[in-house]
Amino acid sequence: MIRLDKTPVEKWVTNTQLTQFMSIGELAHKQLWDMNVHKGSKGWLHWPAEDHHRLMQQMEAIAQRFRAISDVTVVIGIGGSYLGARAALSMMQSNFASEADQMRVLFAGNQLSESYIGDLLSILDEHEVTVVVISKSGGTLEPSAAFHTLRDYLEKRYGKGAAERICAVTDPESGTLRQFAGDRGYVTLPIPRDIGGRYSVLTAVGLLPMMIAGLPVNEVMAGAAEAYDELRQQTILENPAYVYAMIRHFLYLQGFAAEALVTYEPQAAHFAGWWQQLFGESQGKDGIGLFPTMLQYTTDLHSMGQYVQDARKMLLETVLDVHFTDTAHSITLPGELDEKSNYMSGKSFSELQQVAVASVIKAHTDAGVPNLLLHAEGNRPRLFGELVYFFEIACSFGGYLLGINGFDQPGVEAYKQEMRRRLV
Ligand code: PA5
Repeated sequence: MIRLDKTPVEKWVTNTQLTQFMSIGELAHKQLWDMNVHKGSKGWLHWPAEDHHRLMQQMEAIAQRFRAISDVTVVIGIGGSYLGARAALSMMQSNFASEADQMRVLFAGNQLSESYIGDLLSILDEHEVTVVVISKSGGTLEPSAAFHTLRDYLEKRYGKGAAERICAVTDPESGTLRQFAGDRGYVTLPIPRDIGGRYSVLTAVGLLPMMIAGLPVNEVMAGAAEAYDELRQQTILENPAYVYAMIRHFLYLQGFAAEALVTYEPQAAHFAGWWQQLFGESQGKDGIGLFPTMLQYTTDLHSMGQYVQDARKMLLETVLDVHFTDTAHSITLPGELDEKSNYMSGKSFSELQQVAVASVIKAHTDAGVPNLLLHAEGNRPRLFGELVYFFEIACSFGGYLLGINGFDQPGVEAYKQEMRRRLV
């Protein structure tokens, strides 16, 4: 369940202002749900309500086979073809997953570090390895470089058997990767044409790595379906995703330049990375848009906290206060601590964290930093699905408020073209 608490932001954005904004909100709502507006880019919108039985079966078969023949799967992809899976695994696995889990999912192809790929190759010999390469266009430079390096490694190590260790997730019909996979006989899964990278986590792009890691994807989809049912039906001012989008839009119009998604759970930190890409690529264009950034509290209170409290007031904070109901920990501090720390004795870490959330919001809002609070509670797979869909709705609705195309990313091309020019 996701609940928006806008009390801390009310001195910047009032209920009256939100009500006056209704007609613009109504228009954005209509544009969002009209499949003819940005036709071909909104396959994700009704996705949670559609039947994915066949896809689920295909993925399950691949995941089971990969788990049977390997103990490490390298998932290759960048941007929307990577951040969602990383966020999902990090939220749903233990904080110390890599040491605890038998099946390890490692990521590659999301940068060009020789040291990273070198370290990766140097540990693979100790494992049985499979590879999932994810690229919608099929020709993105970073994943392409990593894929061909790992493919070459697999071919040298497993010979003809390499092909059965590779799965390509890509455009259903076209692109270099689709063609290459066909030629080599790899198993493939489609990325629907009308779902862009940053909206694709609930397709095979995110679900296959989750399945390989043994995570309950049905629960993830159930969470997304729950959010779909809820958000689709609510009126503008009762829809927390819309209200969140309208408040951050208002603050942007008031001159705030950046929004930090603040998380207190390390397991939600990568989710903030996914959120950052969603908003950055969707809304940062035509010379406008809030700069999305992320802060991991209380850790960053001892570094960036100083800046947030005392420096230029250009930042707003959206606090994503997550409560996982499926992690069974209850850890209370001992009755007797040292003289200075005794005021914490007998308190649980959760209590301390909740006091931190409230105290930081008070300190920052008093200093002129608008804060919005999103409470999110549930078991992690369901909550993950719910959060994904919640922010997808908020982001696309916000794109309509800004009057931009929230589904393209023309700015990403410039560096790629320059690299190609230098390398060809
Ligand atoms: O959201 C997007 O569309 C991008 O971030 C892409 O996901 C990213 O550039 C990777 O593209 P591709 O999947 O084509 O390799």
